[in-house]
Amino acid sequence: MNPIKHAVATLCLIAAGGYAYAAPVSVTIDTTRPGPVINKNVYGQFAEHLGTGIYEGMYVGPKSKIPNTRGWRNDVIGALKEMHVPLVRWPGGCFADEYHWRDGIGAREKRPVKVNTNWGGVEESNAVGTHEFFDLAEQLGADTYVNGNLGTGSAQEMSEWVEYMTSDSKSTLAELRRKNGRDKPFKVDFFAIGNEAWGCGGNMTPRYYTDLYKQTETFLRAPKHLRPQIIASGGNDYDTTWTDMISREAKKQTYGISFHYYTIPTGKWEVKGAATGFKEAEWFSTLSNTLKIDSMIKKNVEVLDRNDPEKKIGFLVDEWGTWYDVEKGTNAGFLYQQNTLRDAVVAALNFNIFHEHADRVRMTNIAQMVNVLQAMILTDKDKMLLTPTYHAYHMYVPFQDATSLPITLKDNPQYSYNGSSIPEISASAARAKDGKLYLALVNTNPNQEAEVAVDVPGVAIKSVKGRVLTAPALDTHNTFQAPDTIKPVPFSASAGADGKLTIKIPSKAVIVVAVE
Ligand code: AHR
Repeated sequence: MNPIKHAVATLCLIAAGGYAYAAPVSVTIDTTRPGPVINKNVYGQFAEHLGTGIYEGMYVGPKSKIPNTRGWRNDVIGALKEMHVPLVRWPGGCFADEYHWRDGIGAREKRPVKVNTNWGGVEESNAVGTHEFFDLAEQLGADTYVNGNLGTGSAQEMSEWVEYMTSDSKSTLAELRRKNGRDKPFKVDFFAIGNEAWGCGGNMTPRYYTDLYKQTETFLRAPKHLRPQIIASGGNDYDTTWTDMISREAKKQTYGISFHYYTIPTGKWEVKGAATGFKEAEWFSTLSNTLKIDSMIKKNVEVLDRNDPEKKIGFLVDEWGTWYDVEKGTNAGFLYQQNTLRDAVVAALNFNIFHEHADRVRMTNIAQMVNVLQAMILTDKDKMLLTPTYHAYHMYVPFQDATSLPITLKDNPQYSYNGSSIPEISASAARAKDGKLYLALVNTNPNQEAEVAVDVPGVAIKSVKGRVLTAPALDTHNTFQAPDTIKPVPFSASAGADGKLTIKIPSKAVIVVAVE
């Protein structure tokens, strides 16, 4: 349209009080060319000995008045089960590289009290150790990801931990495990050698780390069917040097290379931005910074495709999520932050990106599960609330182990703010294990609803049914006084007489529907 006609058309719409839909965004799902399976562990969680993430938030001890099962809070575990947590990473993070597993076994009252030097300098009672962690995972029905200590530990210490956890023999370590109450080996699905070796894990170079990794991996011995998949600690942000060296030199010794990226509204660690009370500028910058993970993954995948064309090595985003300035009045080392509609949108944008890279991204772990950073659950003594991020995870459950499907978006407008822009609609589709076709849609624009015309060639769509998550304010969140302020509600749309189906997505919303 020439500029004058366009201006006239826009003015007419505004004068009519109507909404200036340019054209619906067209979303086409190709069911004839199924893509890779979206590994359920893409929806994994991370629980570190940090703040009240484990103690108080999940583990209160068997003697607590808060109802619990062997110390783990029944309310929190119940909600996490409902969310189908597929995998938990433990005990850190930075904490892992100062954690000595022998401190966390045997009678709890005799365990040594240490100082958590990374997180707030508080006392670490070691009440949660190996047996308690596996109890948590078994209560959740989740896979396990144990992070070994390379920073202040050794190949021998990690090798003995793996033996303690996995040996079915009568070795002294296996017998010690039995004496501590566990006859059969624990199911250790994944074991990482170190964490953030470039930083809190020891300020190493990729060269030094890769040599240590190869040495350590050699000695993590276990019967074949009990041996965990071994993970190498990789890089962060746009750095691909770790992925490059590890995938060239330790290709036969690794299940995957880990990667960390945190979304910071301002992009600056010194002043990150607030979790609530922010303006549209930080809504926009947060979503825009989140979307950068797509190019980070692409750059790393290019490197992997060069060094590992057989696609043996996974790219594992084992820490991601929003990181804001801590809530006023809380311990700065506890990383406690509120969680709003913006966090749910961030989560959904990440999910859609992870699905696109499902052939390499075989695991991710949001940081973190309870009371820390972008949490699923916040607790206050005996109270708990589900965050908008929890609801996004719950809505996306059908995507766990679903088969991804190619999806094409046409006429997707840009959501612009202050001269920068991001795509308005993000979408993902998959065939779930229940045989149904699922579609996830995100509207990043906080000011306008959007129309999406859905087409599945060869299929006469009758309707879509599912749930939508949105709220009036950018920072709508749940509180202990009003825990249901924001939660998903039913959503459906039907095809018109012409057989075409159009979905109206509210502004700033996440939708997951089954296409029928
Ligand atoms: O998730 C909090 C911290 O962030 C982790 O301990 C560390 O690995 C990362 O820097």
